[in-house]
Amino acid sequence: MPARIAPLLLAWYDRHARTLPWRGIHDPYRTWVSETMLQQTRVETVIGYYARFLQRFPTVAELAAAPEDDVLKMWEGLGYYSRARNLHKGAKQVVTEYGGVIPASVEELRKISGIGPYTAGAIASIAFDQPVPAVDGNVIRVVSRLRGIRENVGIPSVRRALEGEAAALVPADRPGDFNQAVMDLGATICTPGTPSCERCPLQGECDAFAAGDAEDLPVLPRKNPPKVFDYAVCLIFSGDRVLMRQRTEAMLRGLWVFPMIEGTPTPSQLPSAVRKLTKLAVSGVESAGEAKHVFTHQIWQMLLYTMSVPEDAQAPAGYRFIPVEEMGDLAIPTAVKAAVSAVREYVK
Ligand code: ADE
Repeated sequence: MPARIAPLLLAWYDRHARTLPWRGIHDPYRTWVSETMLQQTRVETVIGYYARFLQRFPTVAELAAAPEDDVLKMWEGLGYYSRARNLHKGAKQVVTEYGGVIPASVEELRKISGIGPYTAGAIASIAFDQPVPAVDGNVIRVVSRLRGIRENVGIPSVRRALEGEAAALVPADRPGDFNQAVMDLGATICTPGTPSCERCPLQGECDAFAAGDAEDLPVLPRKNPPKVFDYAVCLIFSGDRVLMRQRTEAMLRGLWVFPMIEGTPTPSQLPSAVRKLTKLAVSGVESAGEAKHVFTHQIWQMLLYTMSVPEDAQAPAGYRFIPVEEMGDLAIPTAVKAAVSAVREYVK
């Protein structure tokens, strides 16, 4: 039975494959970039970023030679920035340890920063025609339904069994197309929630369709709800410059943000809180609206405040006064885009 799956799916793919810019090429660097961007991010969003990124960094050597700030700037708005930092680190590693040549085997690929089991399988199969699986959320969903895996896929032994099933499905001929066909099937037919089984080329092979429980699969581990944080975002102006810092924390490392004070201080409490954080004596605190950003594990509820210091004020250690017209050169996370708008509004 599983032997019938690949021919059926490839025949479907030949008629229904989505036309995407990273398809029909055999360049491991391009596959690495596209598959890295596609993790956690929608295809439609990736298309533009992919084109711009490759225009700026056409080869792994050019990516390796670039400053990290430039790489983060090209990733600005895509989120999950550790993907960009690790891709950049991996590119340097390819240059120093592999003579600039991306290796073809899953085993060697896995030694490179930013290349996990999924990306290694995707590069090996798509760029090097190796018959290996690339197990992401789509594949987990499709395979758990197809092969009737009804236990929690968060359990390591269940996950291993699923990976074994996934590997057994990959054909020797056109493994990269097969893997991308599974992704397309997962994106367009074998969707989360209620799948469109009536249109599915694998309906006759599908354990869950036969059992009538496709909607209930996969059984996923329970996720913790995101933690909610309240912040006062301090937009501290010195003339036409605004105080910013480049984050050093694991989350959003390397991205530029404004000083943030946890909690919901009142405007009259802000000068002393800001002094504690930055040593600066601010005045003229005004509310500049509010904003909310939902990350995977955190929600930021932000109240925005403008305030000012004299034009000759010195930026405290770890901070810089950035001329507002130069803010666009920095990589700024989407979470603080409302604050950026408030800054531009203030100096208008
Ligand atoms: N999601 C992850 N990789 C993909 C690919 N190569 N094509 C379409 N969607 C994807």
